[in-house]
Amino acid sequence: MSSQIAFIDLAAQRRHLGPVVDEAILRVLEHGLYVMGPEVAQLEADLSAFCGARYSISCGNGTDALALILMAKGVKAGDAVFCPALTFAATAEVIAWLGATPMFVDVCEDTFNLDPMSLVASIAAARDRGLKPVGVIAVDLFGQPANYDLIEATTANEGLWLLCDAAQSFGASYKERPVGTIGQATATSFFPAKPLGCYGDGGAVFTDDAELAGIIRSLRIHGQGTDKYDNARVGMNSRLDTIQAAVLLEKLKIFPGEIRARSRIATRYNEQLGDFAIAPRILEGATSVWAQYTLRLPGHDRNAVQAFLTVAGVPTAVYYPVPLHRQAAYRHYPTAPGGLPVSDRLAAEVISLPMHPYLTEAMQDRITAAMRAALVASA
Ligand SMILES: Cc1ncc(COP(=O)(O)O)c(C=O)c1O
Repeated sequence: MSSQIAFIDLAAQRRHLGPVVDEAILRVLEHGLYVMGPEVAQLEADLSAFCGARYSISCGNGTDALALILMAKGVKAGDAVFCPALTFAATAEVIAWLGATPMFVDVCEDTFNLDPMSLVASIAAARDRGLKPVGVIAVDLFGQPANYDLIEATTANEGLWLLCDAAQSFGASYKERPVGTIGQATATSFFPAKPLGCYGDGGAVFTDDAELAGIIRSLRIHGQGTDKYDNARVGMNSRLDTIQAAVLLEKLKIFPGEIRARSRIATRYNEQLGDFAIAPRILEGATSVWAQYTLRLPGHDRNAVQAFLTVAGVPTAVYYPVPLHRQAAYRHYPTAPGGLPVSDRLAAEVISLPMHPYLTEAMQDRITAAMRAALVASA
């Protein structure tokens, strides 16, 4: 077996960062303000400066970021919230937590993101079932923003709010609008494997709405009111640890360069593999942060491709092998009329290749050569 390539190489990033993260953590250990210390407020200010959102509210993880927004919006039983099924479970999980109904919408086969036509049909179908459509969670899968012009036309027309699940896309943009400034609110994740990740769990909410921001700040600390023991509402405990904020402050400084590297690597993948498999498509005017580089392999035996690549020392992953509407926890929830044929097909066709800013050209050439050989062998 050849030497193993990393799928995401956090050790290489750590070498690139040098001692700055260690020093930042040490500063927290010395001042001792482990919860809501000064690094948390600094990070929130820096995140707002980076993405242009008026309010950045850090929290415990990306799932809580989604939940905090839904709680602030008062989502409840009888409400329908529309989301894709080709996503990580958290997107629908938070809707179900609140007793509301996730209604699964199909995705576009070229971008993997919410299909605006399927959304329109789903809203009508939800009303027919006696549900009250209240909002949409659009997911920016693999780092590319969803088709927001068309989605926003529908949410505006139908009087729904729009929440962006940007767990994978923080740092990307859609027609000059940075992720974090689209919709009524945006949730992101700082899970270590995300494009901007910390060294544990972390997340954030972004919004321009002062009232919403105030409610979310309260909700993340047990619904705190005027002081620590005044509870204005039922909330949760979801704060970003000061140590994680300190890590993110340092990582945010190198993030723009990392995004450029990811983009360079994705372009090279497209050039080297575009004739052999279906390469991902980025919408006109959009940018991606390439949380994943995901190909489609119609007509190939994906298991055989993966096995071939494993022997060649090239790790791969499938996001997502079973869409949520086929999972035990979610299959009783409604889907778009006619089901989700595109989500089903993509789940059977997709494969993600190693993607991180420290992938060298030599490693990439090895990956693409192995991939081309695997595709020939599995055709
Ligand atoms: C699309 C999507 N939504 C939500 C989440 C949840 O984020 P976290 O793991 O930080 O709770 C993730 C990441 O895992 C994700 O990929």
